[in-house]
Amino acid sequence: MGINVPAFVAAEIEIMVREIDDLRQEAIAAIGAAADLKSLEELRVHFAGRRSRLREILSSIGKLSAEERPIIGSAAGKAQRVIDNALEQRQAALEALSESSDSFDITLPGRRPHIGRKHPLTAMTDELVDVLRSMGFSVADGPEVDDEFHNFDALNTPADHPARDEHDTFYLDDGNLLRTHTSTVQIRVMQQQPPPIRVISQGRCYRKETVDATHHMVFHQIEGLYVDEGVSLAELKGTLTTLGRRIMGDRTEIRFRPHFFPFTEPSVEFDFSCTICAGEGQIQGSRCRVCKGTGWIEIGGAGMVDPNVFRAVDYDAEKYTGFAFGFGIERVAMIRYGIDDIRLFLDSDLRFTRQFGG
Ligand code: DAH
Repeated sequence: MGINVPAFVAAEIEIMVREIDDLRQEAIAAIGAAADLKSLEELRVHFAGRRSRLREILSSIGKLSAEERPIIGSAAGKAQRVIDNALEQRQAALEALSESSDSFDITLPGRRPHIGRKHPLTAMTDELVDVLRSMGFSVADGPEVDDEFHNFDALNTPADHPARDEHDTFYLDDGNLLRTHTSTVQIRVMQQQPPPIRVISQGRCYRKETVDATHHMVFHQIEGLYVDEGVSLAELKGTLTTLGRRIMGDRTEIRFRPHFFPFTEPSVEFDFSCTICAGEGQIQGSRCRVCKGTGWIEIGGAGMVDPNVFRAVDYDAEKYTGFAFGFGIERVAMIRYGIDDIRLFLDSDLRFTRQFGG
């Protein structure tokens, strides 16, 4: 934007006009590049403030001749308007910028909310509880810190009984212990109410175990108890068969093997037929790894409630019979989800839990 200087004007005036022109250009460039409101304010003071060079020029206009005055006056006035305008525009632009960085930009892609999901153990427990509830069992609860009476004595396991060795646990200073199985809840429920009883209980149990891929000192069990007049072993088998089929699939078979538990007589261990090889023991000629070629998967323990247990809770052992069963939830979940190490259930790595459930 050149300025036409008439030919009659003195050389000093021409220099002044050039200076105004340079100032204007310099100011426009600097204002356009101002990165924030603070530096813009500094530029305002420098180029348009009371002590700016432009103001100095404008205030000295009176000393000029009548011909020179309008030339400098219009050049300086024009430069000032252009600079004021540039300052205003830049200020608006910087303000808009700082506002938008504080506020929400609806054009950005949204942040995906972190949606939690059930831990595989919780999912498995819920499923087991649902099936058993649908068969008429209600859910009972008991403490994880319990006493020797509920964990052992009332379950026909006196202090000198060798079965205690397999249930070594963590004892507290006050003589209480961390329960080694959910069978404690059988006793608690029977102490509180007369037969008939049809309850399940699930929860954390503890044992003084050496931790490896299939054993942990913290694990979960689910337990069932049915007491009434005339309850039979056939009903136990029917109940567990139904449970097995609902959890493992319609063609699941059940097998009872004689066993010993202090609190049941007779006692059995029960197996489900292997869901991986459909009980064949092999898949396409090679040994099934899940059931180790046997066609059966060991699940848990069960039996008819020992009369001594009824006596411990003041039930009439002549009148009532009952069945009970109990098994580890981790074990069923491991088979169900193909998990090969029990320690993973307590792993805080979310990559583990994210693989399961919805
Ligand atoms: N409490 C047993 C255990 O932890 C499992 C068990 C076996 C529970 C037989 C029962 C039962 O209710 O009848 O090894």
